[in-house]
Amino acid sequence: MRIELRRFVAMNSWQRVESFVGHLPYKPLKMGMFYVLRAEWPFAIPPPIRSIEVKESGIEDIEALVRVHPKGDVFTTRFGLGDRCLCAWEQGEIAGYFWFSIRPTVLEGRFSYPIEVPEDTVYAYDALVREPFRKCGILNQFWRTLGEWMATQGRHRISIIIDHDNVVSWKAHVSKGFYPTTKVVCVQCFGRNYRRVSPVQPGELPPLVRTFIGDSAALSDAQRRIPSKTEHV
Ligand SMILES: CC(C)(COP(=O)(O)OP(=O)(O)OC[C@H]1O[C@@H](n2cnc3c(N)ncnc32)[C@H](O)[C@@H]1OP(=O)(O)O)[C@@H](O)C(=O)NCCC(=O)NCCS
Repeated sequence: MRIELRRFVAMNSWQRVESFVGHLPYKPLKMGMFYVLRAEWPFAIPPPIRSIEVKESGIEDIEALVRVHPKGDVFTTRFGLGDRCLCAWEQGEIAGYFWFSIRPTVLEGRFSYPIEVPEDTVYAYDALVREPFRKCGILNQFWRTLGEWMATQGRHRISIIIDHDNVVSWKAHVSKGFYPTTKVVCVQCFGRNYRRVSPVQPGELPPLVRTFIGDSAALSDAQRRIPSKTEHV
């Protein structure tokens, strides 16, 4: 109780409002800021640090998926919509999963932001690796498996979204050549969505990410490319 009080005293006004709102039973206010990023396949992937089996999973693996994250209804709906799931398996358990979709429009889960998926593109989302298996190259193996599948489908572009403050994910993806194209700020108030969508200048990274992984000098030429106005994200 005393620790909670000290934490509350240390908060600034915005954090206090956010904390108060977060404790309300009906969650009238929800806020988020994320970026749409894009990359061209193929990109270089280092050899795996730990050998682990990666294969596509289906509805028959739902129990194992739910043991990783308890969102069975969501997983079932995704399979029903035709989205696909890669899983990394270790001794009969899932060490990590990774979803992807080629539906023409996919709604981002929290704010229903529509992500358009053109015919040359795959939208990859909800990558999760269980903590004991992180930094072993599993995400990289997901990308390799997805890339091999994309090559058979004539698709060569990948879209993803990353929250502005998920520094680990930014590190993992900027190093692969992913570059942000669009910034999305969402506020959900009493069930209504308000959004501000803006294009990202070439080389721009979120401030927090820049602090951790350096400025745009770290970006490759591919990341600096000015996206064509006719391209979708
Ligand atoms: C992000 C996440 C999926 C990465 O999975 P992973 O299997 O640990 O990643 P890998 O070991 O394949 O590493 C991929 C790259 O990211 C880098 N990386 C991974 N974790 C890192 C960390 N904690 N700090 C710095 N770099 C990191 C690796 O060095 C590697 O870079 P390289 O290919 O240039 O050598 C995992 O941390 C995770 O599940 N996080 C929680 C969920 C999440 O944030 N998902 C992403 C949503 S956008």
